[in-house]
Amino acid sequence: MMAHRIYNFNPGPAALPLCVLEEIQQDLLDFSGSGMSITEISHRSKPFDDVINDAVARTKRLLGLDDKFQVLFLQGGASMQFAMIPMNFLAENSSADYVDTGTWSSKAIKEAEIQGKAINVVASSADKNYSYIPRDIKFNEGAAFVHLTSNNTIKGTGWAELPDTNGVPIICDMSSDIMSKPIEAQKLGLIYAGAQKNVGPAGVCLVVIRQDLLDLVPESVPTMLRYDTYAAKNSLYNTPPCFAIYTVDLVLKWLEETVGGLAKMAALNQKKAALLYDLMDAAGFYRTTAETDSRSLMNITFRLPNEDLEQQFVRQAQQNGLGGLKGHRSVGGCRASLYNAVALEAVEALVDFMKTFETQNG
Ligand SMILES: Cc1ncc(COP(=O)(O)O)c(C=O)c1O
Repeated sequence: MMAHRIYNFNPGPAALPLCVLEEIQQDLLDFSGSGMSITEISHRSKPFDDVINDAVARTKRLLGLDDKFQVLFLQGGASMQFAMIPMNFLAENSSADYVDTGTWSSKAIKEAEIQGKAINVVASSADKNYSYIPRDIKFNEGAAFVHLTSNNTIKGTGWAELPDTNGVPIICDMSSDIMSKPIEAQKLGLIYAGAQKNVGPAGVCLVVIRQDLLDLVPESVPTMLRYDTYAAKNSLYNTPPCFAIYTVDLVLKWLEETVGGLAKMAALNQKKAALLYDLMDAAGFYRTTAETDSRSLMNITFRLPNEDLEQQFVRQAQQNGLGGLKGHRSVGGCRASLYNAVALEAVEALVDFMKTFETQNG
């Protein structure tokens, strides 16, 4: 029987490619001829070794990373990275620059402050409710790193390109746009992303680290909170989230072999986002919340003329097989998350629905 599937615009956990879900379904009882499910085999077995090594190799190829970088899989979500980053890279006599572009950046800043670390918030868009990405930022030359959130899932903004930091490595939370476009690896020291938006299920956080940063980790950091613990053991110091890593590997395989890489993915993501932004720019009924030059291509946040209409919009969309359009509870309004696995066809269906809704209620 065909499964009932809707168009899924959830912000995360979010849509996965249908072919990936089908492959999981097919493999579930007998993974790779083992007679066991991937959730039942040892993380030290050959089949799992092949999975994690494949996921690492695909990440490196897709992101165009050279051997300076190492790919790690951690637990604790992106939120644990907020704490681990200052813990690992800020010794007593060093400081870091942070840019505050919304909820998740603010949480990263808070975790450094809790530890009493020296940080400078060098730019913030809090003055306009985080509706834009700050420009012309003056970074501190001696900073150990610059922390940024590349895509602001809740506020609907994103960096079109990373800023020039005069060689200071950027540490970037890419939870909601990882693998959505090629990256500027030469500017980066570390990137991290909770997998549950663009690369897989919840339960694993993808980390890419420039290996020289591992030398900065102080002896006092506990074993499980040290990047060098994971780096020394190919993320297998203890039992990793095997099923999540396996699913990430399948998503990466889909990106490489079916989509054809990140440049192609980026072109498709541009096209999908343009469909929605063009509709909203053409008439006054839907209003995007992000400034034009700061718009996210992943999370499109918008308002309707009033809150009653917004509730009606989300409800009717759901009835029409379009799910996950409610804005984050902290900001209200509506949000369409157009991650990689959301097909062009889904966005076209949403645009059709939005036009009809506007005709009936505008
Ligand atoms: C940009 C960003 N950073 C961090 C997080 C937190 O991720 P996690 O739930 O994996 O800790 C989220 C979750 O939505 C996010 O969108």
